[in-house]
Amino acid sequence: MKISAVILAAGYGTRMKSDLPKVMHPLLGRPLVDWALRAVEPLAATPPVVVVGYGQEMVRAYLGDRADFAEQQELLGTGHAVLQALPQIDSTVDTVLVTYADMPLLTGATLDKLVDLYHAQQADPGLAIAMLTITRDNPQGFGRIARGADGNVAAIVEESDCTPEQLLIRELNPGIYCFNAAWLRQHLPAVPKSAKGEYYLTDLVAMAVAQGRRVVTASAPIDDVYGINNRVHLAEAETILRRRVAERHMVAGVTIVDPQTGYIEDTVEIDADTTIWPGCVLRGATVIGKHCTIGPYSQLIDAVLADRCRAVYAVLEQARMDAGAEIGPFGHLRKGAHLGEGVHMGNFGEVKDSYLGPGAKMGHFSYIGNAQVGANVNIGAGAITCNYDGVHKSETVIGNNAFIGSDTMLVAPVAIGEGAHTGAGSVVTHDVPDNATAYGVPARIRSGSAGDPASVGEIRGI
Ligand code: UD1
Ligand code: MG
Repeated sequence: MKISAVILAAGYGTRMKSDLPKVMHPLLGRPLVDWALRAVEPLAATPPVVVVGYGQEMVRAYLGDRADFAEQQELLGTGHAVLQALPQIDSTVDTVLVTYADMPLLTGATLDKLVDLYHAQQADPGLAIAMLTITRDNPQGFGRIARGADGNVAAIVEESDCTPEQLLIRELNPGIYCFNAAWLRQHLPAVPKSAKGEYYLTDLVAMAVAQGRRVVTASAPIDDVYGINNRVHLAEAETILRRRVAERHMVAGVTIVDPQTGYIEDTVEIDADTTIWPGCVLRGATVIGKHCTIGPYSQLIDAVLADRCRAVYAVLEQARMDAGAEIGPFGHLRKGAHLGEGVHMGNFGEVKDSYLGPGAKMGHFSYIGNAQVGANVNIGAGAITCNYDGVHKSETVIGNNAFIGSDTMLVAPVAIGEGAHTGAGSVVTHDVPDNATAYGVPARIRSGSAGDPASVGEIRGI
């Protein structure tokens, strides 16, 4: 069996009331059309053909090589849409799978069920279509599945064409089909225009039956075929998806204290015995190790945390934390921040483009930017690297075991030696040698041990 997929994505999405094409609206971090592609990609032998229309530039640019595109210039219905895609489908393809770009919850398992059904029956040359159906109390908006006295599908009747009896039918058409490719190529062009002026893909079912061909069905879970038409649907679909992602992590050993309030994108990896407290937003390429505590209320974007880390009321973006490091409450790690093993970063600190060596402590109100901080350095409350002179960013280097006094301003470029001290409130404009002490504004350097006034030596920077 060689499958190609056609994904319908040409609709206006008027009810989204948006400048963005409907299928580009994000759901748990990815556009709707991305979810639709990911569902069919494992099954299809060739890149799917996406039928585009409204907003197509954006859809084409986003998907790039992942898809082939067919343009539907006028939206003349689902039959017309698939017809536009047929020329793009390789002649060796024997099975055409059709899905919608605005049904992002369709799972691989449900599609597998459909394809397996088609496959199992494929030996029967009379087989034309395998399709999913759903059963649901509120049938509004769906085509009804009309079955004959023998129980076989006879037709799909669009809601606007239903008789009062047909309106009562609760078996519905979600719009996901597997077609015999040769049969589809031959008969799709013959679908007539409906009273509404559209070409209905659904008309193929009655056509197949009239030819004595077989149409077989598999039932789908309702959640899988959730179509998005407005932003209420978008939010509801996201709730379902978030639940699915949270369940996957919980089953794998992660404690999620309140799955309702968390937002975890499906790209995020979390190891066992980590606890996610309420209110956390975990996004992108974030990876979290074992025995970590995240939250309450933390946002991690593309952050990588080793085992036993803690992040409480913290914001981390493209940052790393080595084993046992902790941040918060109210800490911010910006791009390129890297906390070494066991680093403690407390209240109201910010680190950017900097490495803090193992065991470093930065308890309160500090900004460290463009800095290399050694092991076991103590950064006193309010200490700041003045890394920007208005034109250039400059580096600060702090040696192992240095002690940076409260409210020290380290005016970069500057290096603080190993074991050096800076006095509270000092403004350090020049390098401080190993084991020396700098104090004052601007700072004077005293070599030797602290507390020995006689050893005040070189005075630099004045
Ligand atoms: C369609 C089905 C209906 C089914 C319902 C499920 C037909 C005729 N009817 O109805 O039986 O119960 O879906 O949701 O197929 N699209 C295009 N080009 C077009 C028209 C539609 O790309 O010219 C795309 C839309 O963007 C959308 C999908 O096809 O993703 C479905 O179109 P929509 O207009 O919502 O079809 P329904 O009338 O809901
Ligand atoms: Mg619809």
